[in-house]
Amino acid sequence: MVKNFLQGKPLRHPLHPMLVHFPIGLFLLSLLLDLASLVRPSAPNLLTGSFYAMLTGVITALLAAVPGLADYTVIRSDHPAKRTATLHMTLNLIVVALYGINLGVRSSLFAAQKIALVPLLLSLVGIALLSVSGYLGGRLVYDEGIAVGRHKRRTPTPERTLHFSATESGFVPVPEAEDLREKETLRIEIDGQVIAIARIDNQFFAFQEFCTHRFGPLSEGCLDGSYVQCPWHNSRFDVRSGKVVQGPAKVDLKTYKVETRDGKVGVLLDKRS
Ligand code: FES
Repeated sequence: MVKNFLQGKPLRHPLHPMLVHFPIGLFLLSLLLDLASLVRPSAPNLLTGSFYAMLTGVITALLAAVPGLADYTVIRSDHPAKRTATLHMTLNLIVVALYGINLGVRSSLFAAQKIALVPLLLSLVGIALLSVSGYLGGRLVYDEGIAVGRHKRRTPTPERTLHFSATESGFVPVPEAEDLREKETLRIEIDGQVIAIARIDNQFFAFQEFCTHRFGPLSEGCLDGSYVQCPWHNSRFDVRSGKVVQGPAKVDLKTYKVETRDGKVGVLLDKRS
């Protein structure tokens, strides 16, 4: 419930990218006021304004960190973006700590006419690290698709890929499928083929994991009736046939038969594939 809120599901918009504009803008404003105090030392309240912009920046950064942490925890442990996200989070924590120190240093300098060297340097380093961290945040969204479209999904997304080997008969039992609840998905890999398994109306459906448009992860998409919607650009596919019912994708998905043999649910691979 709380996690759903932090991921922006009630708002249908992710919270973290919405909130980060506040600290970024406030830290920049603080630096601009510092620089203005160097140009116009006689202008009143520049350093006081800078201090409060920075203080508000730290408070809003801590607020933005909470949904950011919620987004971080749902990145698959086997996803290459996890490392980038860890670096992004670590840099942000360092930035907040630097601004905390900066506030401590400048709290005794209210009477000064212009900014002192140490707090100015701390601000410059803070902005530099924030820029690197912002770049990494952009890569997480635009290159890796992290948090994109996940706010539309009501059920949890699979945290890791389960690995299996093909069998002589083509039937690969997937015991974890039986634990799926309605509209939940699993992601499995069988000798290089990555497959999503979904439970819909108590039936299992298996289809290729990667969207035919730009390879969005369909096991993290929304299930609506018999359709799966890609989290990246909203292509929809019929999970029964793999047919595209809404673009931008133009190519149908590959689907797989799901059978129950000897009480075990499993995927039947086409032996030619
Ligand atoms: S990657 Fe799926 S719609 Fe673009």
